[in-house]
Amino acid sequence: MSDEAESFVLGRQVAPAEQSACLDRLERAVRVRTDLRPRIGLVLGSGLGGLADAMDLEVAIPFAELPGWPAATAPGHAGRWLFGRLSGVPVMIQQGRFHLYEGHAAGFVVQPVLLMSRLGTEILVLTNAAGGVNVDYAAGTLMVIADHLNLTGLSPLLGANAPELGPRFPDMTAVWDGELRTRLHRAAEAEGLALTEGVYACLPGPSYETPAEVRMLRTLGADAVGMSTALEALAAHWAGVRVCGVSLVTNPGAGVSGAPLSHTDVLAAAQAAGPRLAQLIGRFVAELGSS
Ligand code: HPA
Repeated sequence: MSDEAESFVLGRQVAPAEQSACLDRLERAVRVRTDLRPRIGLVLGSGLGGLADAMDLEVAIPFAELPGWPAATAPGHAGRWLFGRLSGVPVMIQQGRFHLYEGHAAGFVVQPVLLMSRLGTEILVLTNAAGGVNVDYAAGTLMVIADHLNLTGLSPLLGANAPELGPRFPDMTAVWDGELRTRLHRAAEAEGLALTEGVYACLPGPSYETPAEVRMLRTLGADAVGMSTALEALAAHWAGVRVCGVSLVTNPGAGVSGAPLSHTDVLAAAQAAGPRLAQLIGRFVAELGSS
């Protein structure tokens, strides 16, 4: 293992064929710290770190302590792994994520979810803060992701494939697992939480959309828009992990209400609604654990 292989270079492409060697190093670094085998992996988006408070923490690992990884830089992102139990179920929680808009390559953006798969995760729960494209979505709306539009123009699967991880041409008919979606709705009902379902559109950011872009997204069939999640879902599905996700709509999309958008407001809205999302996911995980 050379130092060069471990040094982080922003934007360096990672082809699928290169992932296994990276995952070997990452797995070794994690296994020095914990032997927990997570059944469920969770990714917490902007301002949504609160779910972590509900877990029985075994160990926290800052991203920057793993070979080849930098600290997460996006505001509102802690940038660390939490290993432990949530509702009694062994989980690993990714508190913060890497984004295209930070300059990361698509193959790097998905390395965390591939690491989850490598460590034994069978089910991935993705969360994010999103803008509402659907005019019926008020700030605070929780939306199960039924499907996505990857409008980044990028794929984490560009380059030589790694057949040991996933197929060259993965089927995308059912990325967002139907049974898990049903379970999310059941958990919402049990907790008395309103929960809708829709299509998430992913753009690279970092600018928010123009009003014309939000109208375009609506025409394309999107209900919510954000700057993450789709590539992670794609890669996890490719690697055979069952995927589900929930968007927290922090604001009506640009032009819908006429109000300007700001990251400060997005974080505040995420923090305000975060406890409801934590309640939903906590119940969902508990029910999975008892099944
Ligand atoms: N657009 C894109 N990403 C977002 C938004 C938005 O309006 N709100 C929160 N994340």
